[in-house]
Amino acid sequence: MVLVAYFSKTGNTQSVAERIAEAVSGTTHRILLKTPYPESYGATVKQAKKEIQSDFHPELVDDVAAIEDDVVFIGSPNYCSTISPPVASFLAKHDWKGKRIIPFVTHGGGGIGRAINDIKRFAPGAIVYSPHFYCYGSRSVDKELKDWAERAVE
Ligand SMILES: Cc1cc2nc3c(=O)[nH]c(=O)nc-3n(C[C@H](O)[C@H](O)[C@H](O)COP(=O)(O)O)c2cc1C
Repeated sequence: MVLVAYFSKTGNTQSVAERIAEAVSGTTHRILLKTPYPESYGATVKQAKKEIQSDFHPELVDDVAAIEDDVVFIGSPNYCSTISPPVASFLAKHDWKGKRIIPFVTHGGGGIGRAINDIKRFAPGAIVYSPHFYCYGSRSVDKELKDWAERAVE
């Protein structure tokens, strides 16, 4: 089976994750913070920036016990030019040796930033798939996304 694990605060990454799961007949896992980010965008940016600068990994709830699947799509919003801290927490707490990670990112104009480098940094031993996928928000990218997801698991 293929796992599609993602963090999403405002729904964009979730929407992309659901479309990937449908394309590859995978199961989704939503990465959840024990203490969710504040409602406001500005307060979230302030907190996330601090977490990223100090490599702080916030605590998660309802996490998977262990990664059973050999292929795992990892989805994150671009937070301050990298993966969001909850995704860093998820990567850092699991064992990725020999697993294939297929990254996807949604963003607000800044692209994928240094997300791939940080995925590799927090998931040592993983085989990180390239090309990854990224898109502005969750804009309609259905055909492109479906083709990419299907090719990625071939
Ligand atoms: C804390 C925070 C930091 C962000 N930093 C960036 C950034 O550096 N570059 C960018 O393009 N978008 C940035 N964004 C916008 C998000 O990446 C974008 O809205 C994303 O699609 C949100 O995904 P979600 O709806 O799944 O939470 C940021 C958003 C937040 C909340």
